[in-house]
Amino acid sequence: MAEKRPQSPPTHQDLLNELDAWRAKTQAGGGEKRVAAQHAKGKLTARERINLLLDEGSFQEVDAYTTHRHTDFGMEEKRHPGDSVVTGFGKIDGRRVCVFAQDFTVLGGSFSEVQGQKVAKIMDMAMDAGVPVIGLNDSVGARIQEGVYSLAAYAELFWRNTQASGVIPQISVMLGPCAGGSVYSPGLTDFVIMTRGSSHMFITGPEVIKTVTREEVDLETLGGAMTHSTVSGVAHFTADDEKETLELTRKLLSYLPPNNAEPAPAIEPTDPSWRMDDALNTVVPTDPSTAYDMRDVIHGVVDTDSFLEVHEHFAENAIVGFARMHGQVVGIVAQQPLVLAGVIDIDASDKMARFIRFCDAFNIPLITFVDSPGFLPGTDQEHGGIIRHGAKIVYAYSEATVPKLTVVTRKAYGGAYIVMASKYTRTDMVYAWPTAEIAVMGAEGAVNILYRKSLKDAENADEQRAELVSQFQEKFSKPYAAAASGHVDDVIKPAETRPKLIAALELLRDKQVSSPPKKHGNIPL
Ligand code: HXC
Repeated sequence: MAEKRPQSPPTHQDLLNELDAWRAKTQAGGGEKRVAAQHAKGKLTARERINLLLDEGSFQEVDAYTTHRHTDFGMEEKRHPGDSVVTGFGKIDGRRVCVFAQDFTVLGGSFSEVQGQKVAKIMDMAMDAGVPVIGLNDSVGARIQEGVYSLAAYAELFWRNTQASGVIPQISVMLGPCAGGSVYSPGLTDFVIMTRGSSHMFITGPEVIKTVTREEVDLETLGGAMTHSTVSGVAHFTADDEKETLELTRKLLSYLPPNNAEPAPAIEPTDPSWRMDDALNTVVPTDPSTAYDMRDVIHGVVDTDSFLEVHEHFAENAIVGFARMHGQVVGIVAQQPLVLAGVIDIDASDKMARFIRFCDAFNIPLITFVDSPGFLPGTDQEHGGIIRHGAKIVYAYSEATVPKLTVVTRKAYGGAYIVMASKYTRTDMVYAWPTAEIAVMGAEGAVNILYRKSLKDAENADEQRAELVSQFQEKFSKPYAAAASGHVDDVIKPAETRPKLIAALELLRDKQVSSPPKKHGNIPL
């Protein structure tokens, strides 16, 4: 009988070949057919997306080999290394980020126990390293076959989103049909970016809605990019295709600090701090009922082409966004007189308050441009809770400790004056343009209230009314009464706005104020 020869140990090359074979398996996602189906829908795979998002060659994958352990409903036949998400870290413009990308080719990118563990690990790494986390979302929601394991994993994710809130920036990029839990996590993050046409967000889909309420609605109307960027306000940005969406994500990141203990990235100034734009002197019409575009004001003041508008299509009567002043990142909050005369309503309140709180959490100074006749009157607004929504603005400005500068360009009436970073919500500098009108309300309204009875019976009522309106205009339709009492710090020529703001920002660069110790405040939600 031939002697049994001991098996020779593998060579190093054998081991490396085995690793290569494993690696090939981890890169396959759900297999060729499903990758082709993904491409046929005009969508990229998770890895293709990561490669477009990150600096070339910078991606370091983590947990590529992990598989699920479930066996119900034939799940043992449906194991793919890496499961339904690709996770890791890399760089964007040389700056470190953590990233996860749901893989729709594996069980629809469904959120499994393993996906939850992988995302949790990468979020923990982001928190430990103090770097932003970006989620590329393309998932059908909780993996039905895993039952409570999937739900528990979601709860873990939502808990982590909440822990990370205000510590590291969290960005959600929506690249497919995202349902159920797949939209709750983005809803907890700082910014949601949607792709027009191919991304959808909804808690319950059209089929469930039809079953429960008999309402019939298509996917796009229910939760398409335009719905969420114009109606619900869930999406902060939209882009035409995946490439543009990922480019926008890189651009957004260029304004954000890596964490709440570091400043936002400054760049070499592109234009001089003393630049004065004479066009600003005439941008505000002297007739208070004529509208103008507040974006012209913003563009005339900030560094050239530096304004990145957030929530551009939601509550268009307000404007918020990031810009640079002499290379330093600032947050801009403004009214838009072109839309509803810049009145403050429920959606505008939510939009402004949320942006103010983001900037404050991440050390980004705030510049506010005010032109508003006040809060929108009406039962819709009152019954919708304008009291608690509007209160969010004043709450957000009052708790903000970053440098705060305000420019009143025209109307600052009543509540609008108070809530829009007025002096006594601890705004550092309040400037007024010569066109500023700071009053409890417009002159006509004031006279109608105060002299209603006496004018009703007066013989020359029209004449008297005109005289009184003119007196009120003289007193309050100019900024000098407010300046005389120190309620504004300076009246400036519009063209001087940029150098004045930059000088104040420089003074306040290391501003430090303390707030009373508390667990957390109770913002009216
Ligand atoms: C596991 C799922 C799945 C799920 C779909 N799939 N939903 N697998 N768990 N929840 C599978 C499909 O069987 C299919 O597998 C693959 O994923 C792709 O799905 P399709 O339906 O073919 O894709 P598409 O036509 O693009 O439609 C996408 C969709 C639809 C509109 C999202 O799949 C859908 O309505 N799914 C249900 C969404 C949902 O209700 N999720 C649970 C939410 S509850 P094969 O092998 O056939 O390719 C939840 C709990 C937390 O998330 C809630 C917190 C608020």
